[in-house]
Amino acid sequence: MLTPATTGGSPDRHRLVVLFGGVSAEHDVSCVTAAHVLAAADRDRFDIVPIGITREGVWTRNDAAIAAMAEQRALPDHLEPVGTALQPLAAVSEGDLPVVVLPLLHGPHGEDGTVQGMLELAGVPYVGSGVLSSAVCMDKAMAKVVTAQAGIPQCRWLEYRDGVGDRAELEARAIAELRAPLFVKPANLGSSVGISKAHDAAELTAAIDLALTYDEVVVLEEAVTGREIEVAVLGNEAPEASLPGEVLPGAEFYDYADKYLNGTAGLQIPAKLTDDEIAEVRALAVSAFTAMRCSGMARADFFYEEDGRGWLLNEVNTIPGFTPSSMYPKMWEATDLPYRDLIDRLVDLALARHRRRSGFSTSH
Ligand SMILES: Nc1ncnc2c1ncn2[C@@H]1O[C@H](COP(=O)(O)OP(=O)(O)O)[C@@H](O)[C@H]1O
Ligand SMILES: [Mg+2]
Repeated sequence: MLTPATTGGSPDRHRLVVLFGGVSAEHDVSCVTAAHVLAAADRDRFDIVPIGITREGVWTRNDAAIAAMAEQRALPDHLEPVGTALQPLAAVSEGDLPVVVLPLLHGPHGEDGTVQGMLELAGVPYVGSGVLSSAVCMDKAMAKVVTAQAGIPQCRWLEYRDGVGDRAELEARAIAELRAPLFVKPANLGSSVGISKAHDAAELTAAIDLALTYDEVVVLEEAVTGREIEVAVLGNEAPEASLPGEVLPGAEFYDYADKYLNGTAGLQIPAKLTDDEIAEVRALAVSAFTAMRCSGMARADFFYEEDGRGWLLNEVNTIPGFTPSSMYPKMWEATDLPYRDLIDRLVDLALARHRRRSGFSTSH
């Protein structure tokens, strides 16, 4: 157990360990985010220590490597690893400041509860959701089960786990019940990686094959025709929702290139909705956050079928895109919470959650 120090500096000053990069397909996105956070965080309050995780999973504090990752350049040849799990955290905790970790890792091995589990074992406070919430939000199938139980509306869907049950039968059922076109997604991923829109039975088979190269569980969904509205949620036990924003996809759907490469997706913040619609979607976002037992931050993404079923939850992201031009910070900015203050709030929430959990009895 690492013991955060309590002496030295101002009482509010912390060592903010920013974890970024990572082995997931969202490595690049994470590096861009980290560069922005490092530039924006309040240096009076935080001593910032970036720890980069290379695509190969090497944890590094090498300055040249960190700069290269943040600027998307090639890494230096001889990289001095600082270990793969607790050692780097132990090293940064040896100083005179209490540590708080900001995991800016998207997708598997970052947003899915694995890193959160390691931080729990290390006993350090960290920004965002805990192990269970992170894992459930990351798994698109489990997330649907939990939010359906809480009465949150969503589209029709089916799940397929590789090797479990008759795949041909499932494919026929999907076409009959969900109707083409359908969306096929690996259960555990993000940034639209591995997702396809299948327009007929042959494309469905190919789409499942592709999704199964990313995960053993695949989610099949009816294609919803609706607006894409997102809400930023911030808090622990009493979360608050931002004004909603709207994504206007430039491609057939909001895919990886659209999100990160082409810059073709337009963002409309706040979304053009009536006051009643805004109140509804904010309340649903808070319900989703609570149902999923989120902490700190999450972005709840909805479809809005204006002349149909109304609001349908698509997903809850526990580590949403976090550059200053990403939806999550921009929606808070539109709700009068600027980027730098948002980072402060997230750290405060991490510390509060840690204090609360540290107080639980372990005796019987
Ligand atoms: N069932 C669906 N109906 C219509 N569009 C969808 C559906 N599922 C996903 N999409 C489109 O694909 C994008 C990515 O899907 P999403 O489930 O949000 O995955 P990710 O976790 O990668 O963001 C969405 O933003 C939306 O544009
Ligand atoms: Mg999404």
